[in-house]
Amino acid sequence: MGEFITTRPEETLQLGKRVAAKLEAGDVICLSGDLGAGKTLFTQGIAEGLGVSEDVTSPTFTIMQVYEEGRLAIYHFDLYRLDRIDELENIGFDEYIGHAGVAIIEWADKFREYMPQEYLWIEILLGQEPNERIIRVNGVGDRFVMLCEGLK
Ligand SMILES: Nc1ncnc2c1ncn2[C@@H]1O[C@H](COP(=O)(O)OP(=O)(O)OP(=O)(O)O)[C@@H](O)[C@H]1O
Ligand SMILES: [Mg+2]
Repeated sequence: MGEFITTRPEETLQLGKRVAAKLEAGDVICLSGDLGAGKTLFTQGIAEGLGVSEDVTSPTFTIMQVYEEGRLAIYHFDLYRLDRIDELENIGFDEYIGHAGVAIIEWADKFREYMPQEYLWIEILLGQEPNERIIRVNGVGDRFVMLCEGLK
């Protein structure tokens, strides 16, 4: 596990870019943590790192947003408003996972048992100071353990 403390939004964005550089098709990134802590900003960093110029916003109402402009397609999920597992099945969640592109899932902890077996789990928590964030990165599965180690 790796822990990072950021004190400005740009630093969180930058960490997202560093993760982006290591991503391959089929990778899964689960995001959890405090409301408004920086999950979407972190996703924006990944998107920028992959070469997406569009703004990334929480797909809270659409649940999923695709960005196809970069080195890898991004399937950006936000499960915040999702109540039931069949809603996730209905939007074809499984078909986006582990194939082409990268899946990034905000509020993945809401449906933890529905996540694939291997992923990079990133928890973003509010720190003591207003702009302080504690970012915990944990790899599950060999590939993601390695990816996590490579970030230190
Ligand atoms: N160190 C920091 N890292 C990340 N964001 C920060 C930091 N300091 C301040 N912020 C601010 O926190 C907010 C994070 O918003 P963001 O939408 O990324 O959070 P979120 O976790 O996706 O929220 P939600 O839970 O609603 O999905 C932004 O307004 C950002 O400017
Ligand atoms: Mg968000």
